[in-house]
This record gives sequence, structure tokens and C-alpha cells, in this order.
Amino acid sequence: MIRMHAPSLTLFTLVPLLSAAWLLAPATPSSVGADEPKIATHHLGLDESSASCGKCHKTIYDQWKTSRHAAAWTNQPYKDWMAKKSKPESCHKCHIPSSILDIAPKQPKPREERLDEGVGCASCHVLDGKVHGPHGTQCEAHENVKSKLFESGSVDLCQSCHRVAPKPVISLGKDFEKSDFPAQGKNCRSCHMPEFDGHATFDDKTGEPLGEKRKVKSHAFVGASHEEMTAKAFELKVAKSADGVKLSLQNLAGHRLPGLELRRYDVRFALVDKDGKELTGKDGVISEEEPIKVGTSIDVDLPAQEGAVAARVRLQHFWQAAPKGKWDDKGLALELTKDLSAKKDG
Ligand code: HEC
Ligand code: HEC
Ligand code: HEC
Ligand code: HEC
Ligand code: HEC
Repeated sequence: MIRMHAPSLTLFTLVPLLSAAWLLAPATPSSVGADEPKIATHHLGLDESSASCGKCHKTIYDQWKTSRHAAAWTNQPYKDWMAKKSKPESCHKCHIPSSILDIAPKQPKPREERLDEGVGCASCHVLDGKVHGPHGTQCEAHENVKSKLFESGSVDLCQSCHRVAPKPVISLGKDFEKSDFPAQGKNCRSCHMPEFDGHATFDDKTGEPLGEKRKVKSHAFVGASHEEMTAKAFELKVAKSADGVKLSLQNLAGHRLPGLELRRYDVRFALVDKDGKELTGKDGVISEEEPIKVGTSIDVDLPAQEGAVAARVRLQHFWQAAPKGKWDDKGLALELTKDLSAKKDG
């Protein structure tokens, strides 16, 4: 019995000290300078930092800077949740990953430099000083390798970090695998890296774009809390029920919604008249305990109403910014309406 106590005591005293050191000195290892890994290049001084990639891949860099990937290490919710863990170092691997190119779809190992970049360009693109990408286009700036991980059918690159679920994270990767999307040829990128018309590369000296304008995949990695994504996540359908109308709120995303324990949607289902006035309604909550599973819907029956012309769903997105903290209204609301006339005809 006594022998059991000694090691666990050591663990409990050591761990908080370690975690405090990590939090207090997040920038220390990033100033390694001479030890910064260099990529195979003809341009002197090109290192693996995302800022250095941004000299030529300007638009992509600007998009990435706005992404959650770029904030994976520095964001306050992450720090707050990590501080609650008895082994915070177990959290680091996906939030400050080293290259995943030789390990995907398995989980990455944590990095020790440039921590503030979170999931940076090099995490997804650089291995042993070479740049891995979808085409293997050769250029003077760096040595390129065409990689299977970037083939359009592959989800392994994303799965490295999105398939496992340490609380408060939910495994969206497993949901996706169980869904009909892989059979339809869709993957995470189809929805989260939409195409835009522009340039992937610019001259580092003149800033001029290289090559013709073409379709490039966005690196903003837009997810929840963006109006345009939330609008794509849901669809409202109506059908006749025994004594009224059945409203079905369909999940169109590639996984359950919400996709993180820290998110919630409050929902109001209603039948409305020609002026948009509610005649009858019901409340609902979509949360981690009661998600809408991939490929399914939540259904609500409302009694038929004289003068009802449309069904309406109003969604309000909420977000828990700190452990046990209050739920913040992110100011993100979605309204879906569906005419009832189609139903009467049918
Ligand atoms: C296997 C990879 C992986 C590991 C390990 C991991 N995370 Fe994450 N984490 C993610 C992914 C992916 C997301 C994005 C999930 C989403 O937005 O739905 C995320 C998001 C988060 C967020 C939300 C951040 C925000 O933007 O508000 C928090 C908080 C968080 N993680 C905490 C932790 C903690 C604490 C640990 C350690 C117990 C941990 N993570 C370990 C992959 C990981
Ligand atoms: C989370 C992983 C991830 C991160 C981080 C990431 N990329 Fe990418 N990148 C991809 C994927 C996946 C593709 C291929 C998309 C496709 O073609 O379907 C890609 C494509 C590219 C391309 C080719 C674009 C084209 O159309 O020719 C360039 C250039 C590129 N990335 C540069 C960068 C730079 C610079 C950064 C950092 C600012 C970065 N990437 C960060 C995953 C990532
Ligand atoms: C000095 C300019 C320059 C810098 C700096 C630079 N690149 Fe490139 N990169 C290019 C050029 C030129 C191409 C080829 C033209 C194109 O694909 O647009 C290219 C192509 C790519 C591609 C597409 C490869 C493929 O498969 O087609 C990726 C991915 C990429 N770079 C990533 C990076 C990353 C990551 C960094 C930082 C470590 C980086 N680049 C730094 C100029 C640069
Ligand atoms: C090396 C680990 C890693 C890889 C690889 C990775 N992600 Fe992430 N991703 C994360 C982490 C960590 C977060 C959450 C960052 C945060 O908010 O703290 C995240 C967040 C996101 C978000 C933002 C969700 C939101 O709530 O806004 C999207 C979208 C996303 N990832 C898509 C992808 C896609 C698509 C791929 C594959 C091309 C990919 N990720 C590859 C680690 C990774
Ligand atoms: C058919 C389109 C589609 C596919 C495929 C898809 N997603 Fe999503 N995803 C969405 C939409 C839409 C949202 C926004 C939900 C919202 O705004 O509430 C989303 C949200 C997310 C979020 C944020 C979830 C949250 O509540 O914090 C992450 C992380 C994410 N997706 C990752 C992935 C990964 C990884 C894959 C592949 C395994 C993937 N998605 C496949 C459409 C898709």
C-alpha cells in the first residue's frame, strides 16, 4: 500500500509545476535562430516558419493567419482547458504538431520550436527539408515532393488530428467515416477548403503574382462560428403529420453537430402567418449530449394552424469560452423558412 502512494505523490507535485512552466514561457523555444530547421532551397535563409512561406504564398498565408489552425496554441480557451488537465503535455501533439507527413493518419508528435504558430505550414507540408504537396510542381524556391496524402480522395492528413477525441474535442473523423460522404467522393477538404479564384504564389521580391489566375484551395479552414458555414450546415424540410406539420432540421455537415463539447445551438421551431408572426412553436437544444448525428435530422411535430403559410426555424449559436464558464451568445443566428403551400399541394 505504501509503495503505491509514493509515485503518485511525486506525479501530483511535479505535473502542476511542469504545466505552469509551459504556460509561462510559451515563446522561449521559438527564438532558436541558428538551430531553426532549413528547407532545401536556393534562397538563403528560407526556414520552416510559416511567415517565411508567406513571402511567396501571400494569399494562402493571410488566410491561414485567420484560421483556428494558426491559433491552436495561443488561444485562451485552449490554455484554460489545458491548465485543468493532470497531464497537459498530452494535449500538445495536435496543437503544436511536428510534421505529420511520415505519420498520418496516426497522431503527430509535439514540436519544440515556433510554438505560437500552432498548426503551421510546415506541420502539413514539410518533411526533411522538402515541401510535400498535391502536384509536385518543381520550382527554384524549394524541393517539392508529390504526396499521396494530398490526393483528392484522401482524408488521412486531416484524420491525424481530427479522428481522436480528447475531451472537450469530439471525433468528427469517425463520424465522417461512418457517413455516406466517402462513397460520394467527398472529404473534409471538399467543404473546409473551398476553391477561390486567385494565385497560390507571388514573386518574393516584386510581390507580383506568378502564373495565370486559377482555382486555389482556401487555407482559412473555416468551421463553426462562421455565418456562411452554419448556413451550409442545416436544411429545413416540412411534411404532413397526423394532425399538423412535421418540421425536420437536417444536418448537412460531414459529421455530428455541434462538433465540439463547447458549442450549443438553441432552436425555436414555429409555424408563422403571412406577416411572419408565430402562431405556434416549440423550443429545442442541440448540444454535445443531444447532437444531430451525421446524415440525420431532429423532427418536431406542430399542430395545424389556421392562417399558417410557412414553417420557420431560428437557431442561436452559443459558445463556452472557459471551463465551467458561462455560455456566450456569439451573435450568430440562422433563420430558415419553408413555404407550406408545397405540402398542401402534395
Ligand atoms: C488528437 C489531436 C488533439 C489532441 C491530442 C488535443 N486536441 Fe484540442 N483540438 C483538436 C482539434 C482537431 C480541435 C478542433 C475541434 C473543433 O473545433 O471541433 C481542438 C480544439 C480544442 C479546443 C477548442 C479551442 C477553441 O478554438 O476554442 C480546446 C479548448 C481544446 N482543443 C483543448 C484540448 C485539451 C485540453 C487537450 C488535452 C487533453 C487537447 N485539446 C488535445 C485536436 C486535439
Ligand atoms: C492542415 C494542413 C495544412 C496547413 C496547415 C497548410 N496547408 Fe497548404 N495545403 C493543404 C492541403 C490539404 C492542400 C491541397 C488542397 C487540394 O488540392 O485539395 C494544400 C495546398 C497548398 C498549396 C498548393 C495550392 C495550389 O493550388 O497549387 C500551397 C502553395 C500551400 N498549400 C501552401 C501552404 C502554406 C504557405 C501554408 C501556411 C501558411 C499552408 N499551406 C498550410 C494542407 C495544409
Ligand atoms: C521564394 C518563394 C517561395 C517560398 C519562400 C516558398 N515557396 Fe512554395 N512554391 C514557390 C513556387 C514558385 C512554387 C511553384 C509554383 C506554384 O505551385 O504556384 C511553390 C509551390 C509550393 C507548393 C505546391 C507544391 C505542389 O505539389 O504543387 C506548396 C505546397 C508550397 N510551395 C509550400 C511552401 C511552404 C510550406 C513554404 C515554406 C516552408 C514555401 N512553399 C515557401 C515559391 C516559394
Ligand atoms: C496537426 C493537427 C491537425 C491537422 C493535420 C489538421 N487539423 Fe484542423 N485543427 C486542428 C486543431 C488543433 C484545431 C483547433 C484549433 C483551436 O481552435 O484551438 C483545428 C481546427 C480546424 C477547423 C476549425 C473548426 C472551427 O471550429 O472553426 C477546421 C475547419 C479544420 N481544423 C479542418 C481541417 C482539415 C480540413 C484538415 C485537413 C486538410 C485539418 N483540419 C488538419 C488540428 C489539425
Ligand atoms: C459536407 C460538408 C462537410 C464535410 C464533408 C465535413 N465538414 Fe466539417 N463542417 C461542415 C459544416 C457546414 C460545419 C459548420 C457547422 C456550424 O457552423 O455549426 C462544419 C464544422 C466543422 C468543425 C467545427 C465543429 C464545431 O462545432 O466546433 C470541424 C473541426 C470540422 N468541421 C472538421 C471536419 C473534418 C476533419 C472533416 C473530415 C473528416 C469534415 N469536417 C468534413 C461541413 C462539412
